[in-house]
Amino acid sequence: MLVVVPPHALIKHWVSVLRNEQTPPPIFRNAMAELGRLLMYEASRDWLPTITGEIQSPLGPATAEFIDPQEAVVVVPILRAGLALAEHASSVLPVTKTYHLGVSRDEETLQPTVYLNKLPENFSKGTRVFIVDPMLATGGTLITAIDLIKERGVDNEHIKVVCAVTCPPPLKKLSEKYPGLRVYAGSIDPTLTDKGMIIPGLGDAGDRSFG
Ligand code: PRP
Repeated sequence: MLVVVPPHALIKHWVSVLRNEQTPPPIFRNAMAELGRLLMYEASRDWLPTITGEIQSPLGPATAEFIDPQEAVVVVPILRAGLALAEHASSVLPVTKTYHLGVSRDEETLQPTVYLNKLPENFSKGTRVFIVDPMLATGGTLITAIDLIKERGVDNEHIKVVCAVTCPPPLKKLSEKYPGLRVYAGSIDPTLTDKGMIIPGLGDAGDRSFG
């Protein structure tokens, strides 16, 4: 499994805005959206299928390379907090569809429950899927999402995870369960508490985004 924390000052900037307990919800949401844009850009590098052809510029013929609209690249935001991180996905990806997945983690047991599933019955062959969720803490939510997506015909190599903050325990779990998966994160923090909180982390990304 590949884990990437893109070394970019803007990514560090937006993660710091998100960490700051003084950041109010509207600014938190914008910071999350900006972080998502940058992480999606990094995660889509060398991953988008293209087509080439000839076009005319005002000054003559030119070789063109466009994103192939026939090859599906889709975004799966995990509600609620994933909505903020995926806000700019469609401006990074010129051709994409969004399939919402609502998963909530029980505060006591930390077990995930799926309460909304807008995934298609099957994804077409070769579909590339970005799963977008700010917090990758115990990994339970993401494992639930990945298994639902894999059941619909997508293999590990066609899934990329985009998260704001994670920590070592879920990354170890994911690498054992899904070889070939790729994770893009704004930060890998040192600690996961018994209550499933990432330290220092950002707090509760859903509550801080939506109040
Ligand atoms: C949070 C977070 C992730 C999940 C991570 O969601 O946004 O989806 O917990 O935890 P895990 O890796 O331990 O499973 P939450 O259930 O709080 O829902 P919300 O986004 O609606 O606030």
